[in-house]
Amino acid sequence: MLKEDYNKLIKTYGYVNKFIQTEIDLHKEIQALKVKKNAVILGHYYITPDLQDISDFLGDSLALAQQAQKTEADIILFVGVHFMGETAKILNPGKKVLVPDLNAGCSLAESAPAGPFLEFKNNHPDHKVISYINCSAEIKALSDVIVTSSNAKKIVDSFPMDQPLIFAPDKNLGNYINSVTGREMLLWDGACMVHEKYSLEKIITLLEQYPEAVFIAHPECEQPVLLIADYVGSTTALLNFVTESESKKFVVATESGILHQMQKSCPDKTFIPAPSIDSTCGCNDCSFMKLNTLQKLYLALKYEKPEIHLDAEILEKARLPILRMLELSK
Ligand code: 13P
Ligand code: SF4
Repeated sequence: MLKEDYNKLIKTYGYVNKFIQTEIDLHKEIQALKVKKNAVILGHYYITPDLQDISDFLGDSLALAQQAQKTEADIILFVGVHFMGETAKILNPGKKVLVPDLNAGCSLAESAPAGPFLEFKNNHPDHKVISYINCSAEIKALSDVIVTSSNAKKIVDSFPMDQPLIFAPDKNLGNYINSVTGREMLLWDGACMVHEKYSLEKIITLLEQYPEAVFIAHPECEQPVLLIADYVGSTTALLNFVTESESKKFVVATESGILHQMQKSCPDKTFIPAPSIDSTCGCNDCSFMKLNTLQKLYLALKYEKPEIHLDAEILEKARLPILRMLELSK
């Protein structure tokens, strides 16, 4: 179903809840539909706890891409954001890839429109293009290799030091990778609206209040926040860090969804979300990730829509840089 058609449906019928008979046990129905249709549910750490618990596989962007590539299910229901569904489709084009809500975009992906990015790339013909997976299929198709926050350093290190590089679209991750590799990659001016909102002043005040707490941050955060972090890593790396650490208290600067898994893995430890500039705005929540709901997940599986469709040429061009990434990640 096209995004316009889906939006029309929502406009006509109001909230998607209207499609669901109230007496339905959604968990039971979803399990039954999954078996009947041979579907797999892939979920990112930033979705709500109920959806994390119903996912067959939960992970960070890299692990989810690897899972999407190797799955033998007929249907992939990707509970995350749009670019993740696109990546799954690119890696496994024979499968039907569904998402609960086509409007679940990403501020970072949107900060790099294909037209201006192509112009930027053409202005630097000697540069190789490294793109963070949080970008559209069109940007992937214009890239030499894709990275995630788990493997960015390793992949950047694989290029000779004298090779000029463009890093897009996240200037914060790019800046961080420049600092740990000693490179001077040319950065596209994009950022994540969740990770940019952390308040350095409030974090410092909180850490003064809890001197025993360890401060951990995702590399999509701005440089001043990363400079005071005790540990910087992808969502999976942060989860592993808190699990293995002997410390009992952590201040966490990444989307609040990950706290559910941290608390599950370490019930005896305390996790405090890092404060953002406006403590009333729910800035630690990714509003796109949070568009996914149990009702929409059920409807997507039942009606097999909305589905991810990609232009065949873009899909082919975007696959190569993602495959390069998966190869370099081994
Ligand atoms: P990772 O999954 O690589 O940690 O990235 C986090 C993110 O922002 C996903 O949108
Ligand atoms: Fe995009 Fe940021 Fe949301 Fe991740 S957390 S999906 S980068 S807006």
